[in-house]
Order: sequence, then structure tokens, then C-alpha cells
Amino acid sequence: MIGDEPRVSIDYLADHPRFVLTVAKWVFDHWGKMYRMQSVEEQIGRLSERLNKDAFPIAFVALVDGKPVGTASLKLREMTTYPHLEHWLGTVYVDEKFRGHGIGTALVVWATREAKRLGVETLYLHTPDKASFYRRLGWEPIERPVYFGMPVVVMRKVLRVVEEK
Ligand SMILES: CC(C)(COP(=O)(O)OP(=O)(O)OC[C@H]1O[C@@H](n2cnc3c(N)ncnc32)[C@H](O)[C@@H]1OP(=O)(O)O)[C@@H](O)C(=O)NCCC(=O)NCCS
Repeated sequence: MIGDEPRVSIDYLADHPRFVLTVAKWVFDHWGKMYRMQSVEEQIGRLSERLNKDAFPIAFVALVDGKPVGTASLKLREMTTYPHLEHWLGTVYVDEKFRGHGIGTALVVWATREAKRLGVETLYLHTPDKASFYRRLGWEPIERPVYFGMPVVVMRKVLRVVEEK
């Protein structure tokens, strides 16, 4: 980042467990109603399962001056309606005050690179309203189902082309 842009670093949430509560609150406040989440505590439990570095599921946190400003996760079988699709990117969130500085992009690029490092061939995500944000990052829409009563777009990014024998 240059000029007055915030200096952002991205780390494993596993290395910053004290930020689990902040991230859980973001998730619950933003998606709680939409996905019928029960409580912040439930999200703390889910994020605690993602405190990994070398295997899915993994949560990441974006930091500015050591403070959490955003998050993203690599998850397993996120959509119950697509149990055959294994690897998903989700929970991409940037604190409102920090949006528009490239932090969301950095989180998506970072998490995608991590999935590639772990040997994932194709990564999936679903979004009700941010398809254009992901499209510009090279994600391709593949289906438009209804999920939790909302029309969503399922998108994919091929990370490794597997040659047929
Ligand atoms: C979506 C989100 C993560 C983007 O974070 P951000 O840090 O503002 O993103 P960036 O600054 O990297 O934006 C990258 C580009 O995408 C654009 N963009 C941002 N939000 C967008 C949106 N909703 N639709 C289309 N483009 C968008 C920005 O204008 C920017 O364009 P530019 O490079 O020409 O300036 C953030 O708005 C957010 O947390 N929203 C609420 C949670 C959410 O909806 N997450 C997505 C889950 S599906």
C-alpha cells in the first residue's frame, strides 16, 4: 500500500486468538439474520474450529497497526446443498471504516493463494450480492440457486488444472 493507505498485513486467526470475539461479532452482526445464526457464542465456536494453518478450515485476519480490520475463511462443504463441493472461501468481511482500500481484495487473494498452497484444485464461494466484486478477481459464476430463501450466486476459481489420463 502507498501514500495514506493503511498498512495492512494478513495473518492466521490462530496466531491472534484474542481477536476471535471481534470477528465473531462482525459475522453475527452482518450475517446473523440472513443465515439464521443463533448467537455470537455459536460463531465463536465456529471460528475456534478454524484456528488452523495447514489444513482446512482456516480463518484469516487482516490487521492495521496490530488491530483487526477484516477477515476471511477457508471452509469445508460450506453449502449443505452442495455436499460434493469440498473447498470454499467464505466469511469475507472488512470493517466498514476500512472499506475501499483494497483490504477485501487482499483477503480474497491471500486466502486463494493459501488454498492453492494446500493443493486445492477448485475453490467455491457463494454470495447474495457481491458477485461483481469476485468477478473482477477472476471468479466465475456457475449456478444461481436459492439458499436460505435468498437468490445467491455460486462461483468458482480453478487453482490447479488436473490433466486427464
Ligand atoms: C465486500 C467487501 C469485503 C469489500 O471489501 P473492501 O476492502 O472494501 O474491498 P476492496 O477495497 O478491495 O475493493 C476492491 C474493489 O471492489 C470494489 N467493490 C467493493 N465492494 C464492491 C461491491 N459490493 N460490488 C462491486 N464492487 C465492489 C471496490 O470499489 C474496489 O474497486 P476499485 O479497486 O476500482 O476501487 C466489504 O464491502 C464488506 O465487508 N462487505 C460486507 C460483507 C460482505 O458482503 N462480504 C462478501 C461476502 S459474499
